[in-house]
Amino acid sequence: MNTYRIALNFEDGVTRFVECGATEKVLDAAYRNRINLPMDCSDGVCGTCKCRAESGAYELGDDYIEDALTEDEAEQGLVLTCQMIPKSDCVIAVPVPSTACKTGTAEFGATVAEVAPFSDAAYELVLDIPDNAPVFLPGQYVNITVPGSGQHRSYSFSSAPGARRMTFLIKHVPEGLMSTWLKSGPDGQSLQMTGPLGSFYLRPVARPLLLLAGGTGLAPFLSMLEVLAEQQSGQPVHMIYGVTRDQDLVLVDRLLDYAQRVPGFTFTTCVADAATTHERQGYVTQHMPAQALHGGNVDVYLCGPPPMVDAVQKHFKTEGITPASFHYEKFTPNQTAS
Ligand code: FES
Repeated sequence: MNTYRIALNFEDGVTRFVECGATEKVLDAAYRNRINLPMDCSDGVCGTCKCRAESGAYELGDDYIEDALTEDEAEQGLVLTCQMIPKSDCVIAVPVPSTACKTGTAEFGATVAEVAPFSDAAYELVLDIPDNAPVFLPGQYVNITVPGSGQHRSYSFSSAPGARRMTFLIKHVPEGLMSTWLKSGPDGQSLQMTGPLGSFYLRPVARPLLLLAGGTGLAPFLSMLEVLAEQQSGQPVHMIYGVTRDQDLVLVDRLLDYAQRVPGFTFTTCVADAATTHERQGYVTQHMPAQALHGGNVDVYLCGPPPMVDAVQKHFKTEGITPASFHYEKFTPNQTAS
C-alpha cells in the first residue's frame, strides 16, 4: 500500500515526519507514531484538531460539520487532521508546541567523513549518516553538539533532503568552539545532533523566487536549489549572495552548476568590503534589480545576520514593495543556523 510522508511542523520549530497510509487519517498516523496532535472529538465536530496544510494534495474528508471547518477556512488551507487523508506528501503546520503533543526533536549520531576548509572563511562539513537519520525540509537546521564541550551550535543543512551524506557550510570563527574542533582534524569522529528544526524552509513554488544569502547563510539555499533542480518548476529564481570580504565568497562554482541544472536560476554576488576587487561592491540591497522584485509577485527567502534582515525590510519599504511572502532566518555565528 502507498504511504505518504507527512511533515508536522510544530509552533516551537520542531519538525517530525510520519508515514501516513493512502487511506489513513493524519491524526491516526501521528498517533501511531506517538505524536498526540490536538484533538477532542476525532469526529469532525469540535474543530480542536484544526491545522494548516502548507503543501501537498489531500482530501478533507466528508464527515465533518461546517462549525468545525468552514468553507472559507478550507479554501485558506486549513484542515481537520482527524478527517484529512493525504494524496501526496504534505507539510502541515501544527499551531501548538511539540511538547504539547508529547513529542520533541529526534536525536541521532553521524560520523565525520570530511572537513573541507575555505581559506579562513568557512568549512564544509560532510557527515556519514545512519539509515534512520531523520529527513528534513530544505532550509531547516540541526543542533550539533560540539564534542567535549557539552554545548551545541546550530547549522543549516546544505545537502538535499534524503541525500546519502549530510553537509553543512560553517563560518570560521577565530577561537570559536566548533571552528577549533573542525581544525583539529576530526575525520572519523562521531557527532550527536538533534533536529531537524526551524520554520525557514522552501514552500511550494507558485511564483518567482528571490533568495538573499548573507555569508554562510548560503547553506540553506544550497539545499533548496537541490530540490528546485528536482522540481523543475520553471519559475524565475534569482539569488543575491553577499559577503563581507573577498575570501568569504565560497562555493560560487556550485552556484554556476545550479545555473545549469535549475531552469530559470540566475545569481549575482557582492562584497561589502570597501577595499574589495570584486566587480560589485556593497550590500545585497544595492545590487537588487527592480525586476527581481516582480512588482511584489515574488516569494522572498533570506538567510543572514540580523542587520541584513532589517536592511532588506527597509529596502522593500523604500521601494514601496510588499512581497507575496517573506521568509527569513536570522543568525549570528555562535547561535542559530549557519
Ligand atoms: Fe474534533 Fe477533529 S478532533 S474535529
